[in-house]
Amino acid sequence: MNRPANGSGPSAGDGGPKVYVKVPASTANLGPGFDALGMALNLYAWIEMGVAERTEIRLYGSQMAGVPTDKSNLVYQVAQQVFEKAGVSHPELDIAMYSDIPLTRGLGSSASAIVGALVAANALIGGKLSAYELFQMASALEKHPDNVGASLFGGLTVAFWDGERAEHIRVEPDDRLEVLVAIPRFQLSTEKARHVLPGEVPMKDAVFNIGHASLLVAAFCTGRYDMIRHAMKDALHQPYRAPLVPGMSDILDRAEHHGALGVALSGAGPTLLALADARSGSKDELERFLLDTLAGHGIEADTMWLKPCTDGATVVTHFDPNATLLENVKSEASV
Ligand code: HSE
Repeated sequence: MNRPANGSGPSAGDGGPKVYVKVPASTANLGPGFDALGMALNLYAWIEMGVAERTEIRLYGSQMAGVPTDKSNLVYQVAQQVFEKAGVSHPELDIAMYSDIPLTRGLGSSASAIVGALVAANALIGGKLSAYELFQMASALEKHPDNVGASLFGGLTVAFWDGERAEHIRVEPDDRLEVLVAIPRFQLSTEKARHVLPGEVPMKDAVFNIGHASLLVAAFCTGRYDMIRHAMKDALHQPYRAPLVPGMSDILDRAEHHGALGVALSGAGPTLLALADARSGSKDELERFLLDTLAGHGIEADTMWLKPCTDGATVVTHFDPNATLLENVKSEASV
């Protein structure tokens, strides 16, 4: 059956069982926790997956522009890895994806696609793989565990990946925490933002980050939000990436004087992220400061107030299999 890529046709309907997964966006690093800290955010992507006679991939929403709809699609490819590891074969899949997560902006869009695909494919085969195994696969695919850990487990994740294994501990984010993101209207690939990093760093910078990242985790664990602005400083990646995001240095230097608990480049950027206390009276001032500072450097940006998301990728069981993914997502949003 031919169904249009823009989603106006009927839902995947070859009759086989379908699974649906909702997966959160994420921010990585949180300043000093380069390739180690991640936090899930309440901005989502959804994936629908079923076994089919002939592969078909439908993409919904403006965030999907340029994403391939053939078997080179990341979701399709990752699903095949799950089947291979589980020893089953499903070469033809019916996949639909809708996402509110901006692509290539530092909010974990590729990690959410990888995690969504892993969880959906695993659900389709009755959960043969454990969450731990999915985390190993996700970390190996991304080459760092921060975004995928947050998208898979939700909350704040502290993790490493040493090239062979990934381990993590999940920390429950406090309800008081709000997250302001300023998303510049240009894309910055993770590859480019990693390319500017040095191969080696001075010992004093490594020591600086160990202290700051450790203090930041302790501040989150103990609710010491007064410590966040001291802890959320970095010497390993932000100084090298600052030239890629005009206005970033000013924001990192001054946001705490405009009501931020702490501020950082979100993942590899270009999005900037400020943490705020939900009870703060300076939220409007902080938002204005970020937008004006970027505008002062000629950068247009959009802001969003988000919350940490406590749930990781979740199999959705209440979607209507006779509706399109877009209709299902929209009806969930209107509830
Ligand atoms: N930790 C990674 C980086 C996140 O900063 O390059 C990229 O998504």
